[in-house]
Amino acid sequence: MKNHSLGASLLSIPPFELASKLNELIKCGIDFVHLDIMDANFVPNLAFNYETCQSIKALATAVPLDVHFMVTPRALKAILPSFFKLNASWMTFHIETLSSVEELFDECRRNGIQAGLAINPDTDLASLEPHLDQCRIVLLMSVPPGYGGQAFDENTFERIQKLSSLRDKKNLDFLIEVDGGIKLAIAKQLKTLSADMIVIGSDLIKQSNKQRYIQDFHKTET
Ligand code: DX5
Ligand code: ZN
Repeated sequence: MKNHSLGASLLSIPPFELASKLNELIKCGIDFVHLDIMDANFVPNLAFNYETCQSIKALATAVPLDVHFMVTPRALKAILPSFFKLNASWMTFHIETLSSVEELFDECRRNGIQAGLAINPDTDLASLEPHLDQCRIVLLMSVPPGYGGQAFDENTFERIQKLSSLRDKKNLDFLIEVDGGIKLAIAKQLKTLSADMIVIGSDLIKQSNKQRYIQDFHKTET
């Protein structure tokens, strides 16, 4: 993985264009595929089911998968065993809805997954603290979860700095991921603020020249 990697969220792609757009994104150089899983309960929407994720994996064999669960524990219990078969690299679960973080992370580890927590823009970062030493990744949401194409919450800049200081202070090495409403100029700012993984959905999908956009994202890479 690069220092700052760019993942594509596929949520805003019309279903009948999923295969062609995904092939295009892979050809143009995305670093990972971000898959949004919803249950119309924790968030007021539905997204990809396991079968669709399997088809995506079949196309994206050489690109790591990052699965973002926005579901209640009940839904998670029902679907997680299937998702373990997906051979994903990372999985994140929302702190707002989790009951037993330790047990879940153990199960992920046994299945070869780098697990971590996701957190909504309005949730206090302090809620993550007791679990940070067990996280391989922390996903900071920069929009309320549920929909693509929303506006980036500017408070995220301060939150990422706080999280990164916590990481340094506690001498931990989890990855910091940011997701929601990110456009190229914002992505470049996030890179300077120690975001390791940056997820872009609608702003990338709508580009006619995705390769140039992705090259531009990586341009100041050091
Ligand atoms: C929102 C999802 C995001 C979203 C990103 O619930 O978690 O991954 O699809 O898409 P944009 O970049 O359009 O906000
Ligand atoms: Zn997401």
